Amino acid sequence: MDFRSQNTTAESLSKTAADALLVVVAGEPAQQRLDAPLATLLDEALRAGDLAAKSGRTLYIHRPAGLKAPRLVFAVAADASAKAFKAAVVAGLAVVKPLGVKHLAVAFGGGPLDAAHAEALVGAVSDATYTYRHTKPSAPAAPALARVTLLAEKELAKGVQAGLARGQGIAAGVTLARECANRPANHCTPAFLAAEARKLGKAHGFKVEVLERKDCEKLGMGSFLAVAQGSHEPPKFIVLRYEGAPKNQAPVVLVGKGITFDTGGISIKPSADMDEMKFDMGGAASVLGTFRALGELQPAVNVVGLIPSCENMPSGHAMKPGDVVTSMSGQTIEVLNTDAEGRLILCDALTYAARFKPAAVVDIATLTGACVIALGHHRSGLFSADDELADRLIAAGGMSLDPAWRMPLDDEYDDALKSNFADMGNVGGRAGGAITAAMFLKKFANGYRWAHLDIAGTAWKSGAAKGATGRPVPLLTHFVLSHAR
Ligand code: BES
Ligand code: MN
Ligand code: ZN
Repeated sequence: MDFRSQNTTAESLSKTAADALLVVVAGEPAQQRLDAPLATLLDEALRAGDLAAKSGRTLYIHRPAGLKAPRLVFAVAADASAKAFKAAVVAGLAVVKPLGVKHLAVAFGGGPLDAAHAEALVGAVSDATYTYRHTKPSAPAAPALARVTLLAEKELAKGVQAGLARGQGIAAGVTLARECANRPANHCTPAFLAAEARKLGKAHGFKVEVLERKDCEKLGMGSFLAVAQGSHEPPKFIVLRYEGAPKNQAPVVLVGKGITFDTGGISIKPSADMDEMKFDMGGAASVLGTFRALGELQPAVNVVGLIPSCENMPSGHAMKPGDVVTSMSGQTIEVLNTDAEGRLILCDALTYAARFKPAAVVDIATLTGACVIALGHHRSGLFSADDELADRLIAAGGMSLDPAWRMPLDDEYDDALKSNFADMGNVGGRAGGAITAAMFLKKFANGYRWAHLDIAGTAWKSGAAKGATGRPVPLLTHFVLSHAR
C-alpha cells in the first residue's frame, strides 16, 4: 500500500483526482472545512435524511456533482479526535472495499489533521485490507486498493507525514504479528517462531540467538522446561537485539509468552474453542511485530526481545499437578494446575532478563481467562508496581489507540499463592485470577522496573471474525519510541 500526503486547501478538495474521495465529517455540518461542491452535497444529504449526523454513519454518492473524483463517501465521526476519525474511516472503508477503487483520497472536514489522525488512517486501511492466506488457498483476492492519499493543508504536512511513516512501521509490525498468530499450531511451532525471528534479524540487522533445550538446562530454566517436557516439539528460547542507541544506554526488554498451543496439559482444557489456544503465542507475536516496526522506524533506542516458546501438552512425559519445579531464580514452584503454564515459562525469562541490566522489562502474555472477564476485549490488563512505568504504558496505549487499563498488585493478593511444598504455588484460585497471575510474575521481576500486560482479551477475536488482532504492537511501539533519544 502506498500512503502519501498531499497539500490541499479546503477550497480545492473537490478538484482532487482519485478513484474515490472519503470525506470524514465531525461536529457542526455548517462548520466543515469543505469547498462549495462538497458543502452542498453534504447539506443536501443531511436535509434529505440520507445521511444522519451520527457517528459511524456513511453515505455513498456515485458521480457526485461538481467533483473530479467519480465516487464520494461521507463518513461521520463522533468528534475531531484521532479515535473518532479512525472509527469513521473504518466505516468509510467498509463502503469503499467492495468497489474497484485503486486510489482513495481521504479528507477531514471536521478539524485539523495531525500525526495521530494520519497514523490512525494507516492502521484502519491496513486492518481493512489484511487477508490471511497461508493455509487458505481459496481466500478472496486482495482488494484493489493500492494507494491512499491523505489531503491536508500545507502547514499540517510535516505532522501528517510523520504520522503516516509511524503508522506504516506499526502496520507492518501488526501484520507480522497477525500472520504469525493466525497460523495453526501445526505450522506455527516454537521452531517456526525461531525461524521468523532469524528472518527478521536478517532483514533488519538484529542480533538473533536461539537457546535450545540443552542451553536452557544449563541455565537452570527448570520451570520453562517443565512446561516443554510434555511435547515432542523442541522448545526454543529466542533472544532478539535491536541496537539503535549507544551500547551504554540500558535497553528496554520485551518478554513475549510463546505457547504455540495450550491444551492445558494434564489439567486439560474443555474441547469447546480449544482451537483458539493456537493464539497463546500472541505475546511472542507482538514482540516479533514490535521488532518489525523497529526495523522500519529505526529509533535511537536499544531493545531486547525474549520469547520462551513451547507447547503445553498432556503426555507420559508431561508435568503433573503437584510436581515441584525449580525455576532459574532458585525459587521452587508447586504446579497445582498445569494449565497455568504461561507464568511458568515467563518466570524464567524474567530471571534471564536481568542480565541485560534493563531500563525496564515489559512482559506480554495471553495469560488469564480472568483478565477477559475483568476487562473484556477492549483494553489489555496492565500490572506494574512502578507508577512512572505504568503511566508511560497507559499513555502509549492512548496515543496508539491500543488501550490498556491498570490493575492492582497489592501485597494482600500474595496469600493466594502460598504452598506447603514449595516457595509458591502456580495458581491462586478463581478470585482475582489475573491479579494473582501477575503477583506470581512479580516474584521473579527483581532488580529492574517491570510491567506485565495481560492480552488474553485483546490479542485475538472469536466468532465470525476469528483471528489475531496484532495487538499490542501499536502500544509497544509507542512505548519503545518514548525511550528514543
Ligand atoms: N492461555 C490461557 C489463558 C487464556 C484462557 C487466554 C482463555 C484466553 C482465553 C492460560 O494459559 C490459562 O490456561 N490460564 C488459566 C489459569 C488458571 C488455571 C489459573 C485460566 O485462565 O483459566
Ligand atoms: Mn493454560
Ligand atoms: Zn496459556
